[in-house]
Amino acid sequence: MPRRALITGITGQDGSYLAEYLLSLGYEVWGLVRGQANPRQSRISRLVSDLSFVYGDLMDQASLVSAVDKVQPDEVYNLGAISFVPMSWQQAELVTEVNGMGVLRMLEAIRMVSGLTAPHRGTEAGIRFYQASSSEMFGKAAETPQSENTGFHPRSPYGVAKVYGHFITKNYRESFGMYAVSGMLFNHESPRRGAEFVTRKISLAVARIKLGHQDKLHLGNLDAVRDWGFAGDYVRAMHAMLQQEEPGDWVIGTGAMHTVRDAVEIAFDHVGLDWLDYVVVDPDLVRPAEVEILCADIKRASAALNWQPTVTFPELMRMMVDSDIQQVGREHEFGDLLLAANW
Ligand code: NAP
Ligand code: GDD
Repeated sequence: MPRRALITGITGQDGSYLAEYLLSLGYEVWGLVRGQANPRQSRISRLVSDLSFVYGDLMDQASLVSAVDKVQPDEVYNLGAISFVPMSWQQAELVTEVNGMGVLRMLEAIRMVSGLTAPHRGTEAGIRFYQASSSEMFGKAAETPQSENTGFHPRSPYGVAKVYGHFITKNYRESFGMYAVSGMLFNHESPRRGAEFVTRKISLAVARIKLGHQDKLHLGNLDAVRDWGFAGDYVRAMHAMLQQEEPGDWVIGTGAMHTVRDAVEIAFDHVGLDWLDYVVVDPDLVRPAEVEILCADIKRASAALNWQPTVTFPELMRMMVDSDIQQVGREHEFGDLLLAANW
């Protein structure tokens, strides 16, 4: 029998790469999709015939119980979230509901379908659960690089909700003996990244400027430092975390630090343009509370999971610019992306 995985957030960047990866490993892959969302119009449109879908929403407990009961998965990857940090100041309650309480709802669905009651230990044979935690939880971190032992100081409602998701995952592991892991992933990008995130906003703008469709690129804090990796690499780590003998918490990143300014420079350089001629710093795009510096210490993950990133940051930015130069030619398909790129 093939192993069966249920992915929430399958229409997102990570969901699309994870679905591809699990299919390549021979998994039967199910995606939780919301309401009238049509996977055929999303990032996974090419995969639709190889996937199965079940309706559900992280805001709706009963729908999650039904989904888990119907799919009877071996592994659940909870990637669903409102993932754009600035949105969390505008809709703090909604983001808390989806990104925080949504994790509890999914754990409860697994607990109910598995018939687990506290106190309970040793359910290794049960459903394995992956929670998409985030380096945003480290926020204003007391140390750099950040490891599994670094304390949390989230700086946004998004980060606070993710801290709740992290601890409730850990708590269900400790309370019910669930195989539940928290992957604390640092920023990861790809040509499939949403256009509101800074790397994609830059790659799309560079492509548009190069092709004569845009004049300027408005950005916020150019000094922010991130540890950016390639999403295709990070989904391998998610899967590896669920194959360990014991569940745990893991930090995944590259260990390399770059500023937003570096990203801009690499991208404009790649098409032979000087970024100083095009970038405008817009104070409205600076966040109410910024995370200034994030960098992962991946010693534990690289040793125990045998995991390494394969794409450097300059390679990643160039990959995204090349892809967007191809895509911008088909502008009519990107009306929504261009709108989002005004963030
Ligand atoms: P993404 O592209 O924004 O995808 C988010 C996914 O969540 C979409 O499939 C979306 O579905 C789904 N979703 C939103 N609200 C939902 C709800 N109420 N119920 C069920 N599903 C819902 O995000 P991503 O970059 O792939 O990130 C995946 C996960 O990793 C997220 O939890 C994110 O917070 C976390 N994370 C990401 C990074 C990163 O750098 N990418 C780093 C650390 C952690 P629709 O298509 O229906 O909107
Ligand atoms: N989006 C955006 N737009 N960011 C900008 C801009 C801009 O115009 N100008 C500067 N930045 C800076 C932000 O202030 C931030 O410091 C950095 O670029 C990265 O911003 P994003 O790409 O929006 O990502 P993020 O770090 O806030 O969050 C992403 O990574 C987290 C993991 O650390 C998201 O994927 C989160 O979901 C994820 O948890």
